[in-house]
Amino acid sequence: MQNFSSVVQKITHGECCRLLLSEKKIQKRVKELGQQISRDYHGCCPILIGVLKGGFVFIADLIRELTIDCEVDFIKISSYGNKKNSSGKIKLNNKLDCQVEGRDIIVVEDIVDSGLSVKFLQKHLSKLKPRTLRFVTLLLKSEMVQQDVNVDYVGFEIPSEFVVGYGLDYSQKLRNLRAVYVLDNEAEKLFD
Ligand code: IMP
Ligand code: MG
Repeated sequence: MQNFSSVVQKITHGECCRLLLSEKKIQKRVKELGQQISRDYHGCCPILIGVLKGGFVFIADLIRELTIDCEVDFIKISSYGNKKNSSGKIKLNNKLDCQVEGRDIIVVEDIVDSGLSVKFLQKHLSKLKPRTLRFVTLLLKSEMVQQDVNVDYVGFEIPSEFVVGYGLDYSQKLRNLRAVYVLDNEAEKLFD
């Protein structure tokens, strides 16, 4: 088991991975998304629902770019197994604290891959009768989306490769990297 600094050193030297989105590029785009959402929801107080675990970094940065009132809640779902592969099944792991009925809801996702999670949340949250329901994702693997899903705000469209950092994990690790990296097939070696 390697310590974090040696893993980071390998990553920043491009071992087993390559930089996809720098911290600066992400921050710039998150700011733009915050401005766009603030314009669209002018005079409203939406509830931003972060999708755990991956969405927690993005939602933390996004709400600080909003210039309108908002509330925050979290929903926890799991679809992925431990490493790179989806189990294909979505499980809801908690209940929301907020009252969704009649409210403007913005679901905040880290990444849309197959679209299954968004589809699941669309169905689940619609039943709770929000006034409006929209989705924002930092990353969209557009080639991968198999489901008929509508994502209203997209940070970046990215190739269908496995990415980590800025909340996204590989086997529960690497969420605390400030940038987004593509991991290659040798990723296991990072932790050897
Ligand atoms: P989907 O249901 O297939 O759209 O996948 C949704 C969830 O899978 C995301 O919210 C992530 O938590 C996880 N996921 C999908 N692709 C990646 C990736 O490239 N890296 C890390 N997690 C991912
Ligand atoms: Mg997620």
